[in-house]
Amino acid sequence: MSDAREKWDAIYRGKPGVMPGNASRVLVENHHLLPASGDALELACGLAGNAVLLAQHGLRTQSWDISAVAAERVAEYARAHGLPLTAEARDLMRNPPVPATCDVIVVAHFLERDLFPYILAALRPGGLLFYQTFTRARISDAGPSNPEFRLASGELLALCAKLEVLVYREEGLIGDLEKGLRDEAMIVARRPG
Ligand SMILES: C[S@@+](CC[C@H](N)C(=O)[O-])C[C@H]1O[C@@H](n2cnc3c(N)ncnc32)[C@H](O)[C@@H]1O
Repeated sequence: MSDAREKWDAIYRGKPGVMPGNASRVLVENHHLLPASGDALELACGLAGNAVLLAQHGLRTQSWDISAVAAERVAEYARAHGLPLTAEARDLMRNPPVPATCDVIVVAHFLERDLFPYILAALRPGGLLFYQTFTRARISDAGPSNPEFRLASGELLALCAKLEVLVYREEGLIGDLEKGLRDEAMIVARRPG
């Protein structure tokens, strides 16, 4: 078993009862952009707050995470609530998504830059990417302390340069720091076609 799987399994074993996780702001605030039907995928989903919301919306949804403990918890929840949601324990770096298979992809709080070409290719023409994660500009201790795992200024926009941008927010340390989206950037972007 990989070190990453052991680490995340231990984290999720320590969080019994918390199900589903919270849906991300990028999806909650832009939910109205979702198609009425199609195939959705949440990557590095943890306790799958986003995948549950996608499945409740009526999309055929898959949720992938390296943690088998998280995936089992999500699968149990989906069965109990009759949701069109399949959970899989999967290392994305070894088994990235397959090209042109998704109408919607959601990723939150996970940043592996090498995965971006696979994520973009996995969108069907017209498919939407909802992505939100931590930035180096920050006002709190939330998220990873290693700056490598946080976005540089403008980086999320650059990583999605081949997509049409529908929504982008990155506020850095400008203005009233008690308000707005802080510590994170978000994008909703569409594959042309
Ligand atoms: C910070 S958590 C975020 C969970 C969820 N997306 C959220 O926003 O609450 C990062 C997640 O990435 C998963 N993860 C880490 N490395 C992974 C990999 N190589 N393949 C798939 N999932 C991975 C972890 O198991 C963990 O659930």
